[in-house]
Amino acid sequence: MLGRHHLSSMGEYDVIVGQASSLTNIPMQNPVIVTDENVAKFHLEKTKSILRDSGYQPKSIIVHAGEEHKNLETVNYLWKSFLKNGLDRKSTVIALGGGVIGDMAGFAASTYMRGINWIAIPTTLLSIVDASLGGKTGFDLPEGKNLIVSFYPPKLVLADPNFLLTLPERELRSGMAEVVKHGIISDPELFDLCSRGLDWVKANLEEVVKRGMAVKIKVIEEDPYERGVRAALNLGHTVGHAVELVSKFELRHGEAIAMGMVTEADYAERIGLAKKGLTEIIADVLSTLGLPIAIPESMPRQEILRAMRVDKKKNAKGIRFALPVEIGKVELVDVDDLESIL
Ligand SMILES: NC(=O)c1ccc[n+]([C@@H]2O[C@H](COP(=O)([O-])OP(=O)(O)OC[C@H]3O[C@@H](n4cnc5c(N)ncnc54)[C@H](O)[C@@H]3O)[C@@H](O)[C@H]2O)c1
Repeated sequence: MLGRHHLSSMGEYDVIVGQASSLTNIPMQNPVIVTDENVAKFHLEKTKSILRDSGYQPKSIIVHAGEEHKNLETVNYLWKSFLKNGLDRKSTVIALGGGVIGDMAGFAASTYMRGINWIAIPTTLLSIVDASLGGKTGFDLPEGKNLIVSFYPPKLVLADPNFLLTLPERELRSGMAEVVKHGIISDPELFDLCSRGLDWVKANLEEVVKRGMAVKIKVIEEDPYERGVRAALNLGHTVGHAVELVSKFELRHGEAIAMGMVTEADYAERIGLAKKGLTEIIADVLSTLGLPIAIPESMPRQEILRAMRVDKKKNAKGIRFALPVEIGKVELVDVDDLESIL
């Protein structure tokens, strides 16, 4: 709850909730800021001036915003821009943006000249409580989301809740889906707080951010490379990723995850794993936050199934789902009869 963590299970680095100005507390060389066109409008100049005040001459690379640009073309553009900007093995990449920017800038840094340092400054709620934590970086292929992934943690994660003040409301809601997920996984009190609705969230961003981050940090410190408990974080994601892909990214990530959580909770209830009524409890909280809870009727089920089968959580026994048992507890279950989930 202090908003300051020192992670050590996958390289040593700090995760701090604080002012963006503390960025320069860690040493860096030749920093280059990677951001997208929307974030640049609001936060690039301020971030640059923080760096300038400490004697740096920051460069910046601006890419298109949106999941549809989280692909090899953009990563390739980043690599080339690093070269053009004269980045060497000692340079530092600063990812200023949501999960899309963090994933791609982190991946580009992980592969450029055998890997260079990077710092994450997440600017969406989703990226603060989820994407920026855990060291996963990567991008999508046309066949599926996040199929190319490497573990490469940043040297620092700096989360400044003030960045969220410029975030469109739809994005804030989307991020709340992951906060609700963290409540379901292991923080029933956080889950209860979520039921207070979006206005309460807006007025208490720092508390939401700190609690949401704490759950993910606990899980990744225990199981950094997803050999066991970390898979709990996939709650809602097997269905959610597929729905997001089939919607051609019309749906925000968190919206798809909200639908995924309700669908998977319903399945867990039907197979007798979850307590009766759990689906309704989860759906109520998501609805209170203005998140969708049902996969649109118009979305072809066969396409969703196909997308789920490409999911990387597949093994010989089927696809591994993280299913809710009760608020605060999930279990990993291999499912081969995917039709029954939908
Ligand atoms: N690496 C991981 O472990 C991990 C975990 C969860 C999700 N993810 C990935 O994260 C991505 C989703 O992240 P996201 O929801 O942050 O999406 P995003 O990065 O696309 O940001 C959402 C939108 O908000 C805009 N934006 C960002 N910050 C803003 C601000 N402060 N003010 C105004 N506008 C702002 C962006 O330009 C974009 O249009 C997905 O690609 C998902 O796969 C990764």
